[in-house]
Amino acid sequence: MIFTTTYWAQVVLSLILSATAAHASAYKRQATTCNGHAELCDRSFGNVTFVGAHDSYAVGTDNLAANQDYNVTQQLKDGIRMLQMQAHNQSGVIQLCHTSCDLYNGGTLQSYLGSVKTWMDANPNDVVSLLIVNSDDIPPAQYDTVFKAAGLDTMAYVPSNASIPATEWPTLGSLINSGKRLVAFLTTEADYSSVPYLIDEFTNIWETAFDVTDTTFDCNVNRTNGDFSTQMFLINHFLDELIAGFPAPDSQKANQTNAVSGVGSLGQQVQTCAAQYDRNPNFMLVDFYEYGGGSVFQVAATANGVTYDPTTPIASPGGSSSTGVTSSNANGASSSLRIARSQLGAFLGVLGGVMVGAWSVI
Ligand SMILES: *[C@@H]1O[C@H](CO)[C@@H](O)[C@H](O)[C@H]1NC(C)=O
Ligand SMILES: *[C@@H]1O[C@H](CO)[C@@H](O)[C@H](O)[C@H]1NC(C)=O
Ligand SMILES: *[C@@H]1O[C@H](CO)[C@@H](O)[C@H](O)[C@H]1NC(C)=O
Ligand SMILES: *[C@@H]1O[C@H](CO)[C@@H](O)[C@H](O)[C@H]1NC(C)=O
Ligand SMILES: *[C@@H]1O[C@H](CO)[C@@H](O)[C@H](O)[C@H]1NC(C)=O
Ligand SMILES: *[C@@H]1O[C@H](CO)[C@@H](O)[C@H](O)[C@H]1NC(C)=O
Repeated sequence: MIFTTTYWAQVVLSLILSATAAHASAYKRQATTCNGHAELCDRSFGNVTFVGAHDSYAVGTDNLAANQDYNVTQQLKDGIRMLQMQAHNQSGVIQLCHTSCDLYNGGTLQSYLGSVKTWMDANPNDVVSLLIVNSDDIPPAQYDTVFKAAGLDTMAYVPSNASIPATEWPTLGSLINSGKRLVAFLTTEADYSSVPYLIDEFTNIWETAFDVTDTTFDCNVNRTNGDFSTQMFLINHFLDELIAGFPAPDSQKANQTNAVSGVGSLGQQVQTCAAQYDRNPNFMLVDFYEYGGGSVFQVAATANGVTYDPTTPIASPGGSSSTGVTSSNANGASSSLRIARSQLGAFLGVLGGVMVGAWSVI
């Protein structure tokens, strides 16, 4: 066999190209801005305060089962970095419903995760957390199938152990540089040996009480599993009102609930918790996040020691309700039931007998 000059030229060229490719893949990108702030790149994930949207998929105006006015894309754009959701088993499909799929159906988990993926692809310097309330104890393998279909499994962070203390989480910079910047928590059924990126919530995070109807918002440990003193913690800072004896999100008080200071405000609960535990909460779940005109993000920025300085104004309080038009929900799926406050009595009458005692809008 005769090796021509052309042949050798090709060999040399391919060697150069593969060396270049190897160099490129070995090169780790170094993020200089993490979740909007240079200061956060070197900060452990377990030492950052994030604003979370409670029932992030439950979007709609004038619907008692809705906790948010804007869809997940707008939530992320405005600064929400933890997305909490309730997952239900609807004929074998994981569907995001509120308490029951008859009451509010926010579409499939897969379509929701698709929106998250699209946003994360367009925003490569942000770490986002998911908190999945596993209402029907669906096994992790089923979630894994949906994460894979949405292309999010490869973006999900795998901790070094099923449970890691708050102080041992990697920095936001290293999560971003490694491309593993989705942190997914599951309330029940997490199994590190089968799907290690679906992280058990309660051995890693403790929570304050939820569904409260008074503005005290104490910081007592309400749900945990293990040693709360080393775990991250989450405050449930959304206020309910009792309507005909049933708790429902109190949008009328949302401006004050989300405020920087004052009775029942988010700022006040953060101060209460910081005084009690000597550190700020890691996650703060709120309803109608845009009420307060960005106050929830201001509270987080203050806790993180950074400046809240949005480049564009966040969405206006109340969504499109001011126009008198009922919006369609986040995923374009129509919600199966839209009820005005004034219609609740009749609604409860319909539900009566079937669900009395079991129904609450949390
Ligand atoms: C989400 O809401 C924004 C407006 O806030 C809208 O422009 C966008 O089309 C919505 N996305 C979906 C998937 O409904
Ligand atoms: C989901 O619901 C289907 C029936 O609709 C049932 O066959 C299946 O066992 C359920 N899965 C779980 C995890 O409960
Ligand atoms: C790893 O996680 C398990 C289960 O949560 C826990 O029992 C164990 O102590 C952890 N090990 C280390 C080294 O942290
Ligand atoms: C958690 O909070 C609820 C509501 O305030 C309360 O009823 C319950 O007793 C609390 N549980 C614990 C363990 O503190
Ligand atoms: C909340 O504040 C906004 C302006 O910041 C105002 O338009 C809205 O009416 C207030 N909502 C309530 C329920 O007080
Ligand atoms: C992060 O660490 C600082 C310094 O110890 C502390 O003041 C702050 O509360 C911590 N924040 C969180 C969310 O742990």
